[in-house]
Amino acid sequence: MANLTLEMGTAELAALLHFYADSGVGDLCEDMPVDRFVQSAEILQSRARTRQQTATGAPVAAGQPSGHAPSQPAASAGRKAAPQPIAPAPQASQLTIPGEAAFEDARRLAAGAQSIPELRAALDGFTGCNLRHSAKTLVFADGNPDADVMFIGEAPGREEDIQGAPFVGRAGQLFDRMLEAIGLDRDHAYVTNMIPWRPPGNRTPAVHEIELCRPFIERHIALAQPKIVVMLGNIASKSLLGSDKGILSLRGTWMDYTAGLEPIPALPTLHPAYLLRNPVQKRLAWADLLSLQVRLDRLKTG
Ligand code: URA
Repeated sequence: MANLTLEMGTAELAALLHFYADSGVGDLCEDMPVDRFVQSAEILQSRARTRQQTATGAPVAAGQPSGHAPSQPAASAGRKAAPQPIAPAPQASQLTIPGEAAFEDARRLAAGAQSIPELRAALDGFTGCNLRHSAKTLVFADGNPDADVMFIGEAPGREEDIQGAPFVGRAGQLFDRMLEAIGLDRDHAYVTNMIPWRPPGNRTPAVHEIELCRPFIERHIALAQPKIVVMLGNIASKSLLGSDKGILSLRGTWMDYTAGLEPIPALPTLHPAYLLRNPVQKRLAWADLLSLQVRLDRLKTG
């Protein structure tokens, strides 16, 4: 990769960087480029040596060709020693689940917040969620907290992490057009996410991350007191409505969000990021938006 990028012009390098950014590669992990081809050749050789050693009982010198070694020359010959491989970022399924104290802390901090600014401060002071350590900013909310309708997405992406506001990247631009299509804008809608910190590489939040943040989003809804809640996508819909159905089954059906004192009419719908990947499904989202518009108009006319 390092040699390849040296041969590229500025425009090609810029295009490559944009490609990485669009693919969710948002952070540099190392100061120096690492040639993974060299590394994997060395790993294959070392495995082959071990296998040969086990079979014959005789030690095999490093660099000596073995029956199973790849046909390339010894990868390190004549080259600078490759940097040590860095452990890849853990996947959601490999993360360490925090202890009960972190969950207890989340519940206590959320319950103690008596206003939306207090809730924001409480989240800022909550250290129990691993995501806050890799994120650049806390992405709390945007729009009008007194609006009739509150939209809840999944978690911030790269652009949201940089700007500290929800739905400001490509999905956010589509989200704004969706609002506009039914006569709304951010002065007439309140927007937040289930999770206020960007998961590294935009991975799906782990179950324990969702559960750690649940007291905060539930308190957020209770403090904002919207007349309607719209859940954008699978994570928000399934978690807040306590359903194990997928979003394509849930979407478009009005339900009650019941975690607060009073049930609130809730509409699960498709996430704008999903619509960017599957534009043909926009017709389903459009049907949901029209249904939302009817409900909102009904609120105004009593
Ligand atoms: N996707 C989300 O769910 N939320 C954001 O804020 C941005 C993208």
